[in-house]
Amino acid sequence: MPDGSSHNLTIDSQKPTTSIDQLATITSWLTNHLPTQDHRASVADALKVAIPGLDIDALCTEPVNENGYSRNVLYTDPNGRFSILGLKWYPGAETPIHGHNAWGCVGVLSGTVQCETYDYCCDSKSVHSTGLVTGTPGVVATVNPNPEGIHRIFNDSDTPATTLHIYGLDLAQEDQSVNVWY
Ligand SMILES: [Fe+2]
Repeated sequence: MPDGSSHNLTIDSQKPTTSIDQLATITSWLTNHLPTQDHRASVADALKVAIPGLDIDALCTEPVNENGYSRNVLYTDPNGRFSILGLKWYPGAETPIHGHNAWGCVGVLSGTVQCETYDYCCDSKSVHSTGLVTGTPGVVATVNPNPEGIHRIFNDSDTPATTLHIYGLDLAQEDQSVNVWY
């Protein structure tokens, strides 16, 4: 210390934290001020910045469903413009193939998940795999409304993973209404 005193110098080694309310405030501003076509990309950018400070483990309190994951609605915009969900994926968790009724973005907070993407063939009314993407912490992906962006997410690792999802839809009344199952 410059004055030679014996004050203890403590270094704050805690990483910065971001609350869901802070993320909701940013998302609210973006969806209120930007044209609709820009919501998906701009919210995804904000989510990418927020991820290092987000920890939703304690917020994933919903029971694990039959597909092996806990799905938690963390925030619904009072004006109905968007909703924020936190998901915890246990080893072996897997969604059915699905699309979404709204724009969306998803960020990986911890662990690793896989996302298989699909095309919808109108003639045969069937879906065909188009690829596999690995999601690791910090990765953010976006999705356009159904029938674009059909996918399934699964955890084939041996450790849990957490992801945060923002959809441009009000899920306050019916939280599954964002999903279109195939
Ligand atoms: Fe999805």
